Amino acid sequence: MGEKKNSERIKDEDVINALSNESPELATEAAAATTTTAEDLESKPIPTLIDDLDIQDIPGIGPTTAKKLRDAGILTVMDLAVASSEELSVEINSSKESAAAFIIASQQLLRDSNLLDKEFVTADVALEKRKSMLRCTTGSKALDKLLLGGIETQAVTEFYGEFGSGKSQICHTLCVTASQPVENGGFGSGSIYIDTEGTFRPERIDQIAISRGLDPTSVLKSIAVCKVYNSSHLELIIKDLGKYINDFKARLVIIDSIISLHRAEFAGRGTLADRQQRLNSMLHKIIRLAEIYNISVVITNQVQSSPDTFFGDPTKAAGGNVLGHASTYRIYLRKSGENRTAKMIDSPYHPYSDTKFTVTERGVDDLEEETSSKRGK
Ligand SMILES: Nc1ncnc2c1ncn2[C@@H]1O[C@H](COP(=O)(O)OP(=O)(O)O)[C@@H](O)[C@H]1O
Ligand SMILES: [Mg+2]
Repeated sequence: MGEKKNSERIKDEDVINALSNESPELATEAAAATTTTAEDLESKPIPTLIDDLDIQDIPGIGPTTAKKLRDAGILTVMDLAVASSEELSVEINSSKESAAAFIIASQQLLRDSNLLDKEFVTADVALEKRKSMLRCTTGSKALDKLLLGGIETQAVTEFYGEFGSGKSQICHTLCVTASQPVENGGFGSGSIYIDTEGTFRPERIDQIAISRGLDPTSVLKSIAVCKVYNSSHLELIIKDLGKYINDFKARLVIIDSIISLHRAEFAGRGTLADRQQRLNSMLHKIIRLAEIYNISVVITNQVQSSPDTFFGDPTKAAGGNVLGHASTYRIYLRKSGENRTAKMIDSPYHPYSDTKFTVTERGVDDLEEETSSKRGK
């Protein structure tokens, strides 16, 4: 307990030091809030549930800062923990350092409450955490096998490929399968579908559900759809995603597609750096959300096909390194006749392999022969 108090104090001092350089008002408040927190530590058990945590439980954050944060749309400790310091500093009109100190303090509180991983854990503990990871079936046994059992929580899975390669069909099918109970290969949860290309079709959900013998109404009710019209709107939705994940009890978030809006709006070479930076901050937030909320994020992406890559690799995903580093798993889709090929491109532990699947009225499905051989025909 004594040690704990010490480390707590070091963190608090960081916050106060960062603040005193620019805002004496916030620094005084931080100091006051810290004192109370330190005194309280003995009597007040550390909250263990997210709902029990208040933003003012964070050392260094008192009513004034809490109000600034609330005004900036940051309502919970989780919201703060996934914020980016650049954006936060602008929103609460502070330096980047103190914004970063608040974020670090919020993450520390989550760690102390066992809601976030410690900075260092032994590998056996890491393996234990991986066990809380859930998988959801894609609808095709072959594609599930490529993914070693389906899409994972705590990860960002990217499907990229040309127009018509089946990206949106995978997204539609996943929403249906995710709504099914865990014992049936689903998440037993709602899904959030962020549609930037205007290609979400509820009729298709209806069709996939009926073809799979499911109740279409309850499946349709489990999917929250948001049609997004421009890149700023997308960034705003992602900023508030934590709240929506809670509201819709979603374990699956789909962004179909992640880059098309930014790609269209930041067309000139001169704006490329700006675009990449905005994409980067959005993607970082997505990864943290996936880990902290134990949800699965699926993003779709296009292949590079701009004139300047005429001699480049047409099978390369758009978005460059920024996107490449953000996705835990990248799967390249290609249309070959009626069938689709999926290839695992990037993964920390999947073997490099590929597989075939198809798209039918059931959504993503196995090829006819494989289905029949599995049925013992
Ligand atoms: N109801 C359906 N039955 C069978 N195949 C379908 C159905 N709906 C769409 N498809 C197939 O999916 C393709 C579109 O794939 P889609 O996922 O929308 O592509 P993208 O990769 O551009 O998102 C169509 O060309 C068609 O082959
Ligand atoms: Mg599509």
